[in-house]
Amino acid sequence: MEVFLVLLLSYLFGSIPAGVLVARTYGVDIQKVGSGNIGATNVLRTLGPGPALVVAFFDVFKGGLAVLIARAVGVEGWLLGGVALAAVLGHNYSLFLGFRGGKGVATSFGTLLFLDPVLALWTFPIGVSVMLITRYVSAGSMAGGVTASVLALALGRPFWEVVTVFLMAALIFWTHRENLKRLQEGTERRLGEKVEVKG
Ligand code: G3P
Repeated sequence: MEVFLVLLLSYLFGSIPAGVLVARTYGVDIQKVGSGNIGATNVLRTLGPGPALVVAFFDVFKGGLAVLIARAVGVEGWLLGGVALAAVLGHNYSLFLGFRGGKGVATSFGTLLFLDPVLALWTFPIGVSVMLITRYVSAGSMAGGVTASVLALALGRPFWEVVTVFLMAALIFWTHRENLKRLQEGTERRLGEKVEVKG
Protein backbone atom coordinates (compact mmCIF):
# COMPACT_ATOMS: atom_id res chain seq x y z
CA MET A 1 0.00 0.00 0.00
CA GLU A 2 2.76 2.43 0.98
CA VAL A 3 4.69 1.56 -2.18
CA PHE A 4 1.63 2.30 -4.30
CA LEU A 5 1.08 5.61 -2.51
CA VAL A 6 4.67 6.75 -2.99
CA LEU A 7 4.54 5.94 -6.71
CA LEU A 8 1.12 7.54 -7.13
CA LEU A 9 2.24 10.76 -5.43
CA SER A 10 5.29 10.95 -7.65
CA TYR A 11 3.15 10.35 -10.76
CA LEU A 12 0.75 13.12 -9.66
CA PHE A 13 3.65 15.50 -9.09
CA GLY A 14 5.01 14.77 -12.54
CA SER A 15 1.54 15.23 -14.03
CA ILE A 16 1.42 18.95 -13.19
CA PRO A 17 1.75 20.47 -16.69
CA ALA A 18 3.69 23.68 -16.07
CA GLY A 19 4.00 24.42 -19.80
CA VAL A 20 0.25 24.27 -20.33
CA LEU A 21 -0.47 26.38 -17.26
CA VAL A 22 2.13 29.06 -18.01
CA ALA A 23 1.09 29.31 -21.69
CA ARG A 24 -2.56 29.55 -20.66
CA THR A 25 -1.78 32.72 -18.69
CA TYR A 26 -0.72 34.20 -22.09
CA GLY A 27 -3.91 32.92 -23.71
CA VAL A 28 -2.01 30.26 -25.66
CA ASP A 29 -2.81 26.56 -25.95
CA ILE A 30 0.76 25.24 -26.08
CA GLN A 31 -0.42 21.84 -27.32
CA LYS A 32 -1.72 23.50 -30.48
CA VAL A 33 1.33 25.57 -31.46
CA GLY A 34 4.84 24.79 -32.67
CA SER A 35 5.79 21.19 -31.98
CA GLY A 36 2.70 20.85 -29.76
CA ASN A 37 4.97 19.81 -26.91
CA ILE A 38 4.33 21.15 -23.41
CA GLY A 39 8.02 21.58 -22.57
CA ALA A 40 10.25 24.63 -22.24
CA THR A 41 11.60 24.33 -25.81
CA ASN A 42 8.18 24.84 -27.33
CA VAL A 43 7.35 27.57 -24.81
CA LEU A 44 10.62 29.29 -25.78
CA ARG A 45 9.81 29.32 -29.49
CA THR A 46 6.23 30.40 -28.80
CA LEU A 47 6.41 32.80 -25.84
CA GLY A 48 10.11 33.61 -25.36
CA PRO A 49 12.83 33.03 -22.78
CA GLY A 50 11.07 34.27 -19.60
CA PRO A 51 8.12 31.86 -19.66
CA ALA A 52 10.42 29.09 -20.98
CA LEU A 53 12.71 29.48 -17.98
CA VAL A 54 9.78 29.25 -15.59
CA VAL A 55 8.58 26.06 -17.30
CA ALA A 56 12.07 24.52 -17.40
CA PHE A 57 12.58 25.31 -13.73
CA PHE A 58 9.25 23.84 -12.68
CA ASP A 59 9.65 20.69 -14.78
CA VAL A 60 13.10 20.05 -13.30
CA PHE A 61 11.86 20.95 -9.83
CA LYS A 62 8.90 18.55 -9.78
CA GLY A 63 11.13 15.60 -10.71
CA GLY A 64 13.74 16.60 -8.16
CA LEU A 65 11.20 17.14 -5.41
CA ALA A 66 9.56 13.75 -5.98
CA VAL A 67 12.91 11.99 -5.44
CA LEU A 68 13.88 14.30 -2.58
CA ILE A 69 10.66 13.62 -0.67
CA ALA A 70 10.91 9.87 -1.32
CA ARG A 71 14.48 9.89 0.00
CA ALA A 72 13.43 11.91 3.05
CA VAL A 73 10.89 9.22 4.03
CA GLY A 74 13.48 6.45 3.62
CA VAL A 75 12.77 5.20 0.08
CA GLU A 76 15.83 3.79 -1.65
CA GLY A 77 17.03 1.34 -4.30
CA TRP A 78 14.53 -0.04 -6.82
CA LEU A 79 11.61 1.84 -5.32
CA LEU A 80 13.52 5.12 -5.58
CA GLY A 81 14.14 4.34 -9.25
CA GLY A 82 10.41 3.67 -9.56
CA VAL A 83 9.63 7.03 -7.98
CA ALA A 84 11.86 8.79 -10.51
CA LEU A 85 10.25 6.96 -13.42
CA ALA A 86 6.75 7.63 -12.05
CA ALA A 87 7.45 11.38 -12.05
CA VAL A 88 8.68 11.22 -15.65
CA LEU A 89 5.69 9.11 -16.71
CA GLY A 90 3.43 11.67 -15.00
CA HIS A 91 4.97 14.39 -17.14
CA ASN A 92 4.75 12.33 -20.35
CA TYR A 93 1.27 10.89 -19.71
CA SER A 94 -0.31 13.50 -17.46
CA LEU A 95 -3.49 12.72 -15.59
CA PHE A 96 -4.52 16.34 -16.16
CA LEU A 97 -4.06 16.18 -19.94
CA GLY A 98 -5.95 12.98 -20.69
CA PHE A 99 -2.72 10.94 -20.41
CA ARG A 100 -0.92 13.06 -22.98
CA GLY A 101 1.99 15.29 -22.11
CA GLY A 102 5.60 16.14 -22.70
CA LYS A 103 8.90 14.46 -23.55
CA GLY A 104 10.26 14.14 -20.05
CA VAL A 105 13.75 15.58 -20.50
CA ALA A 106 13.69 18.31 -17.84
CA THR A 107 11.82 16.09 -15.39
CA SER A 108 14.26 13.20 -15.94
CA PHE A 109 17.10 15.61 -15.31
CA GLY A 110 15.42 16.81 -12.10
CA THR A 111 15.10 13.27 -10.77
CA LEU A 112 18.71 12.51 -11.75
CA LEU A 113 19.93 15.57 -9.83
CA PHE A 114 18.73 13.94 -6.62
CA LEU A 115 19.26 10.31 -7.58
CA ASP A 116 22.87 10.84 -8.57
CA PRO A 117 24.10 14.46 -8.69
CA VAL A 118 27.52 13.49 -10.09
CA LEU A 119 25.90 11.73 -13.03
CA ALA A 120 23.49 14.63 -13.57
CA LEU A 121 26.24 17.23 -13.51
CA TRP A 122 28.34 15.32 -16.04
CA THR A 123 25.38 14.71 -18.29
CA PHE A 124 24.21 18.33 -18.35
CA PRO A 125 27.18 19.98 -20.10
CA ILE A 126 27.36 17.21 -22.69
CA GLY A 127 23.66 17.48 -23.55
CA VAL A 128 23.87 21.27 -23.69
CA SER A 129 27.00 21.16 -25.86
CA VAL A 130 25.31 18.87 -28.39
CA MET A 131 22.29 21.18 -28.35
CA LEU A 132 24.41 24.30 -28.95
CA ILE A 133 26.60 22.69 -31.62
CA THR A 134 23.71 21.19 -33.59
CA ARG A 135 21.19 23.88 -32.58
CA TYR A 136 18.66 21.08 -32.11
CA VAL A 137 17.30 20.79 -28.55
CA SER A 138 16.02 17.31 -29.38
CA ALA A 139 19.52 16.13 -30.36
CA GLY A 140 20.90 17.50 -27.07
CA SER A 141 18.10 15.76 -25.15
CA MET A 142 18.78 12.38 -26.71
CA ALA A 143 22.54 12.84 -26.32
CA GLY A 144 21.86 13.53 -22.63
CA GLY A 145 19.96 10.23 -22.33
CA VAL A 146 22.79 8.30 -23.96
CA THR A 147 25.45 10.07 -21.86
CA ALA A 148 23.68 9.35 -18.57
CA SER A 149 23.25 5.67 -19.51
CA VAL A 150 26.88 5.22 -20.56
CA LEU A 151 28.11 7.03 -17.44
CA ALA A 152 25.88 4.97 -15.12
CA LEU A 153 27.47 1.83 -16.55
CA ALA A 154 31.02 3.18 -16.73
CA LEU A 155 30.94 4.49 -13.16
CA GLY A 156 29.70 1.12 -11.86
CA ARG A 157 26.46 2.44 -10.44
CA PRO A 158 24.11 -0.03 -8.67
CA PHE A 159 22.00 -2.18 -10.97
CA TRP A 160 18.71 -0.50 -9.99
CA GLU A 161 20.18 2.89 -10.95
CA VAL A 162 21.56 1.66 -14.27
CA VAL A 163 18.14 0.18 -15.14
CA THR A 164 16.37 3.38 -14.08
CA VAL A 165 18.65 5.59 -16.18
CA PHE A 166 18.38 3.25 -19.21
CA LEU A 167 14.58 3.28 -18.96
CA MET A 168 14.59 7.08 -18.75
CA ALA A 169 16.79 7.28 -21.83
CA ALA A 170 14.54 4.80 -23.66
CA LEU A 171 11.53 6.97 -22.77
CA ILE A 172 13.34 10.04 -24.11
CA PHE A 173 13.95 8.30 -27.44
CA TRP A 174 10.35 7.09 -27.54
CA THR A 175 8.90 10.57 -26.89
CA HIS A 176 11.26 12.05 -29.50
CA ARG A 177 10.19 9.74 -32.31
CA GLU A 178 8.54 12.61 -34.22
CA ASN A 179 11.68 14.72 -33.68
CA LEU A 180 13.81 11.84 -34.99
CA LYS A 181 11.67 11.71 -38.12
CA ARG A 182 11.98 15.49 -38.57
CA LEU A 183 15.75 15.32 -38.02
CA GLN A 184 15.97 12.69 -40.76
CA GLU A 185 13.83 14.77 -43.09
CA GLY A 186 15.68 17.99 -42.24
CA THR A 187 12.52 19.70 -40.99
CA GLU A 188 13.34 19.83 -37.27
CA ARG A 189 13.12 23.35 -35.82
CA ARG A 190 16.43 24.85 -34.72
CA LEU A 191 17.05 26.39 -31.33
CA GLY A 192 15.98 30.03 -31.48
CA GLU A 193 13.40 29.58 -34.26
CA LYS A 194 10.25 31.45 -33.39
CA VAL A 195 6.65 30.39 -33.89
CA GLU A 196 4.00 32.97 -34.45
CA VAL A 197 0.86 32.64 -32.39
CA LYS A 198 -2.23 33.46 -34.42
CA GLY A 199 -5.30 35.12 -33.08
O1 G3P B 1 12.80 18.42 -24.35
C1 G3P B 1 12.06 18.51 -25.52
C2 G3P B 1 12.97 18.80 -26.66
O2 G3P B 1 14.00 17.85 -26.72
C3 G3P B 1 12.26 18.85 -27.98
O3 G3P B 1 11.17 19.72 -27.90
O4 G3P B 1 9.34 21.10 -28.80
O5 G3P B 1 11.35 20.62 -30.20
O6 G3P B 1 9.74 18.81 -29.75
P1 G3P B 1 10.34 20.08 -29.24
